[in-house]
Amino acid sequence: MTQFPERVFSGMQPTHTLHLGNYLGAMVNWIAMQETHSCIYCVVDLHAITVFQDPGELVGNIRQVTAAYLACGLDPKRSIIFNQSQVHAHAELAWVFNCVARLGWLNRMTQFKEKAGKDRENASVGLYAYPNLMAADILAYRATHVPVGEDQKQHLELARDIAQKFNNDFAAAIAAHGHGDAFFPLPEPMITGPATRVMSLRDGSKKMSKSDASDLSRINLTDDAEAIAQKFRKARTDPEPLPSETAGLAGRPEADNLVGIYAALAGMTKESVLREFSGAQFSTFKPALSDLAVERLGPIAAEMRRMMDDPGYIDGVLADGAERASAIAVPIMDEVKDVVGLLRTVRAGLPAG
Ligand code: TYM
Repeated sequence: MTQFPERVFSGMQPTHTLHLGNYLGAMVNWIAMQETHSCIYCVVDLHAITVFQDPGELVGNIRQVTAAYLACGLDPKRSIIFNQSQVHAHAELAWVFNCVARLGWLNRMTQFKEKAGKDRENASVGLYAYPNLMAADILAYRATHVPVGEDQKQHLELARDIAQKFNNDFAAAIAAHGHGDAFFPLPEPMITGPATRVMSLRDGSKKMSKSDASDLSRINLTDDAEAIAQKFRKARTDPEPLPSETAGLAGRPEADNLVGIYAALAGMTKESVLREFSGAQFSTFKPALSDLAVERLGPIAAEMRRMMDDPGYIDGVLADGAERASAIAVPIMDEVKDVVGLLRTVRAGLPAG
């Protein structure tokens, strides 16, 4: 089987201010992976427009999410940071994948069903084909590892299915072009840590999400200390004290969620958090949790504000990232064209590409 060098790819949509779910479910792992891997982190603006975005707001959100990436600790020298629309290979490869993926596969996607809701006929075609674009994001770089939250698991499975089908459908051409028995790797989802699914602070059965009408349901990375403390104070809980072991969190989704958030913020396991707070009431645990959150998130918010005052710097990071990303993705996309049989022509006297 063809071996692929390890490479990390992941992305977030610039549709909103990032929240604690994005941070703990994905970003914390993104930062850690910079130490061991070559990483590509994308602001997925083409995904954002699958639902209508006000153009002026979208431009601002792309810069704000980039500022959040940098403020959280992504290093633009070590990692490639860019916005998706600036690297043409994403949209091009997505089209090829629209022709590889099967309708039946997409029909099973739960996130489309949730997002489209009852008014399915009125959802954009882009929203339906969204997971194909996501597969293209990853495979345009032959990325092997994809750190995400739990909610992206099904999309990652689809990306693997698409890679596998492409490798099978075009096996003869892949071999003929010298790519061995696989053109694309099967990317591995990396869903790790104590907070892979951060839940709403108002309802332990719903995921923390940008689309929840209540701002009290989520901690935004831009929230100040007062807002953070107020949101944890108002967070729904049950009347029992904290148990001494994780088994005691079963059937207590709100308690489980807050313990998971604490563990992820402190870099601890849930077990060790419970050893520390065994028997504590929420009146003790919640202030400790908000102090920890303020300590971790306060500097991020401050750094984001500072960066947002310097949009030129942010745009420079994105432009540099797009150039470096294109340098990887364009040659792969050219090879895809060869494998699929899309004749590449070069006008006499002009350079290829
Ligand atoms: P998005 O923008 O919805 O979320 C970005 C990342 O945050 C994670 N996440 C959560 N993790 C834990 N608890 C939560 N409540 C929570 N909410 C969000 C998500 O799992 C994600 O990792 N389709 C993707 C973006 C994307 C992408 C890609 C990801 C586009 N192309 C290629 C990886 C690889 C999305 O909408 O994420």
